[in-house]
Amino acid sequence: MAKYVMALDSGTTSNRCILFNQKGEICSCAQKEFTQFFPEPGWVEHDASEIWQTQLSVAREAMNKIDAKFEDIASIGITNQRETVIVWDRKTGQPITHAIVWQCRRTADFAEKMKAERPGIVEEFQCKTGLKFDPYFSGTKIRWILDNVDGARQRAENGELCFGTVDSWLIYKLTKGKVHVTDYSNASRTLLFNINTLEWDKELCEILDIPMSMLPEVKPSSCIYGETDSEFFGGPIRIAGAAGDQQAALFGQTCFNKGDAKNTYGTGCFMLMNTGDKPVYSKNDLLTTIAWGIDGKVTYALEGSVYVAGAAIQWLRDELRAIDSAPDSEYFATRVKDTNGCYVVPAFTGLGAPYWDPYARGAIVGLTRGVNKYHIIRATVESLAFQTADVLAAMELDTGNKLTSLRVDGGASKNNFLLQFQSDIIDTDVVRPSCVETTAMGAAYLAGLAVGYWKNKEDVINNWSVDKEFKSSMDKEKREKELAGWKQAVASTRGWAKN
Ligand code: G3P
Repeated sequence: MAKYVMALDSGTTSNRCILFNQKGEICSCAQKEFTQFFPEPGWVEHDASEIWQTQLSVAREAMNKIDAKFEDIASIGITNQRETVIVWDRKTGQPITHAIVWQCRRTADFAEKMKAERPGIVEEFQCKTGLKFDPYFSGTKIRWILDNVDGARQRAENGELCFGTVDSWLIYKLTKGKVHVTDYSNASRTLLFNINTLEWDKELCEILDIPMSMLPEVKPSSCIYGETDSEFFGGPIRIAGAAGDQQAALFGQTCFNKGDAKNTYGTGCFMLMNTGDKPVYSKNDLLTTIAWGIDGKVTYALEGSVYVAGAAIQWLRDELRAIDSAPDSEYFATRVKDTNGCYVVPAFTGLGAPYWDPYARGAIVGLTRGVNKYHIIRATVESLAFQTADVLAAMELDTGNKLTSLRVDGGASKNNFLLQFQSDIIDTDVVRPSCVETTAMGAAYLAGLAVGYWKNKEDVINNWSVDKEFKSSMDKEKREKELAGWKQAVASTRGWAKN
């Protein structure tokens, strides 16, 4: 019997491969960062060929580290940065331009113009897709490529081009162009997929003027999509799972019941709550999305998306050069007793939930002569918790329930200072599992369940265990004061880049 399931975790800044065994333990891991392109303020691009090459190389590296052969791997699960748009030539498999990344705000003016010209467009898109009519999602980005890359529209209309999110792109490359698919969770982030009928929506494609021939076939998140070409790993491996990274993390955290929620601190920060087999529409500016499709059923989730979380810590490291490595942020944050009244709002690419302001830009406010580097580092770390608090408040309003505990994961969840402050500021228990690689784990579970490596969800639930639980210890008055300061800080960033 095969020993491992392979998870390919293609994130916003790096690609990883993790091999899991049946107990859900990490047996091998390899990771590589790839280039971020910022051609204009607010624009973010990736080279899709580099994504493919680094993903393939880390997969081989992880296998080599433990001398795993293709026959040792039961199946591959893919999880990915969502919404990012790749358009490639159907015959050659060559991308026609750089990938436009989910963080990119180049279509903000276009989205505004569409809203002004077509009253009702916001409601129309929301009720069919569960999303905001916002430049975050793939739809306006695909349109930008068709309008701005030489010859793209004509080629798309001739059926020569494929669109895909990163999952779709990697499956296409791994199968050497044989399979052009995506899963429900990724499709539900495009602005083109009807989450009620589970089909691409002809009318929405027409509004955005996107030929439907470019779109991948949409399948469940746990099923056999195809197998890898033998060239890559010495023999074929089944590709049997795919899900957007946030939905995969919800699965990896075993949030299988209605009301279960998790928060992932990755590049951004994303809170998702399982809402069961019916979409729940938010009245408080959250998104409705597909969590996964498995065993012939679709599960939905409410989502609060925060664009910049771990990326703010990277900013401290790479741009401000205030820390040498991300974990240093915890050490420095605890060198001071508070932020000395300063707040950092990392609205570098606008604000997501619950503000939805593509024109907001980052700010450090409340500066006085005594504010030093440690205060700014601490305020940056705290900003992850404040943004989460904003999203949680909206989620509790939507569901009418107070969350009793929040499961967390992602790189920054290793930061104990952050998680204690998180618990304090939301006045809710915060629970970190033993394995915080839940995104990769979710993809592995989806792929393993499809091929019988794990028999059922109970097998998976048994693998989940707690590492540490954080309990709120802040008094109410202090919490309210902190939150009021944060609100004021956020207000100062709104609409900044409008003109
Ligand atoms: O929606 C964007 C999200 O999928 C990116 O996730 O892990 O790169 O922060 P991450």
